[in-house]
Amino acid sequence: MKSATAVAPLRVAIIGAGQVAEKVHASYYATRSDLRMVAVCDSRLEQAQAFAAKNDIGGSYDDVRLMLQEAQPDIVSVCSPNRFHFEHVMAALEAGCHVMCEKPPAMTPQQADEMRQMARKQGKVLAYDFHHRFSLDAQLLRKNMQAGALGEVYLTTATALRRSGVPGWGVFTNKAMQGGGPLIDIGIHMLDAAMFVLGFPAVRRVMAHSFQKLGTVKQSGQFGEWDPTQYTVEDALFGIIEFQSGGLLRLDTSFVLNIAEQSQMNVSFCGEKAGATLFPAHVYNDVDGELHTLVQREQADDNRHFRSMEAFVNHVQGEPVAIADGDQGFIIQQLVAALYASAEKGDWVEIC
Ligand SMILES: NC(=O)c1ccc[n+]([C@@H]2O[C@H](COP(=O)([O-])OP(=O)(O)OC[C@H]3O[C@@H](n4cnc5c(N)ncnc54)[C@H](O)[C@@H]3O)[C@@H](O)[C@H]2O)c1
Repeated sequence: MKSATAVAPLRVAIIGAGQVAEKVHASYYATRSDLRMVAVCDSRLEQAQAFAAKNDIGGSYDDVRLMLQEAQPDIVSVCSPNRFHFEHVMAALEAGCHVMCEKPPAMTPQQADEMRQMARKQGKVLAYDFHHRFSLDAQLLRKNMQAGALGEVYLTTATALRRSGVPGWGVFTNKAMQGGGPLIDIGIHMLDAAMFVLGFPAVRRVMAHSFQKLGTVKQSGQFGEWDPTQYTVEDALFGIIEFQSGGLLRLDTSFVLNIAEQSQMNVSFCGEKAGATLFPAHVYNDVDGELHTLVQREQADDNRHFRSMEAFVNHVQGEPVAIADGDQGFIIQQLVAALYASAEKGDWVEIC
C-alpha cells in the first residue's frame, strides 16, 4: 500500500510588522496547519524581532530583498504603509511569491497597473485585502444583484464616515506616505464593496469636493491623538461616480465630521425593482406605502477579514475562489486617483 506523501507547509513572510499584520495576517496564518510563518520584515528591526517572538516566527529582518532571498517564502503579506506597497509587492512577485497586499493597492493607478502586469508575467496570485466584499452580506447582495432582484440600480450611496476617527497611530495623516486621507484609507473600502456588489460597471466620469476643516484643528478622538500641525491629508471628501449606464454612485468619506453617529460604514443601492442596504444585508421594496422585506440577514457578518485571507490562501492553493485581484485593484485605484484629481481641479474627470 502506498503511503500518502506529506505536503510541506507553504512558507509565509510578512512585510510591515504593525497592527494590521498582527491582528489580521499573522492571526489568520496561525490558524492553518498547511502554512508556516517563516520571516517578518520591518524597517524598525526591533519591531520585526518583537513581532517574530510574539508570533513564533523564525526570521526577523529590516531588509526586504535579503528576507526574500534567505527565507524563500511562497506567500508574502504586504502590510507596510501605502507608499511602500508598490516596491514591496513588486519585489515579492519578482522573487516568485504569491502576494496578499493591504489596501490601497498602491499610491497611483500607474503603480497598480504595473503590479497587476507583474503578477500576470510571473504567474502568481496578487490579492488585495478589500475585506468587506468577503462578508456574507456582500456575497448575498451580489447574488441578488446578479439574479436581477433589484432591477436596474441607478443610485448607490457609499458611506465611510467617522465623527472623530483620525487614526492616532502610523502615518495616516501624512500625504507623502499615504497618498491621501479618508478616501484612500476608509472610503476605498466602501467604494470597493459597492463596486463588487454592482459587478464593476464601466465608469464614465467622476466629480469630487474635498475638505480640510477639522483634522488641522482637532487633535484627539476615537482612535487616539494626532498632531494637527502635521495633518496634510483631506479630512473629508464627497464624490460622485457616473457610470456609462447613467447610474450614479455617491461616496461620502471622512475621518472627522460633525455627524451624530461615531461611525457610518455602509452602502445602499436603489434599483427599479427594489432597494438594498449592505450591512446587514437587506433587500426591500415598497408595497402600498409599506416597507416589504425580500431578503434580510439579522446581523452584519463580522468575519470579513478572516474570509478575505481565507479566499486568498485557498485561491493560491488552486481552489476556484474569487479574490480581490490585480485588475479590480487597478480600477479602484483609478477611481481614487480620479476623485482626488477632480477635487483638485474642481471639475469632472473623465475615465477612459
Ligand atoms: N484592510 C484593513 O482594514 C486595514 C486596516 C488597517 C490598516 N490597513 C493597511 O495596512 C497598512 C499598514 O497599516 P497599519 O495600521 O498596520 O500601520 P502600522 O503603522 O501599525 O504598521 C506599519 C508597519 O510598517 C513598518 N514600515 C514602515 N516603513 C516600512 C518599510 N519601508 N519597510 C518595512 N516596514 C515598514 C512600520 O515600522 C510599522 O511597523 C496600510 O497600508 C493600511 O492602509 C488595512
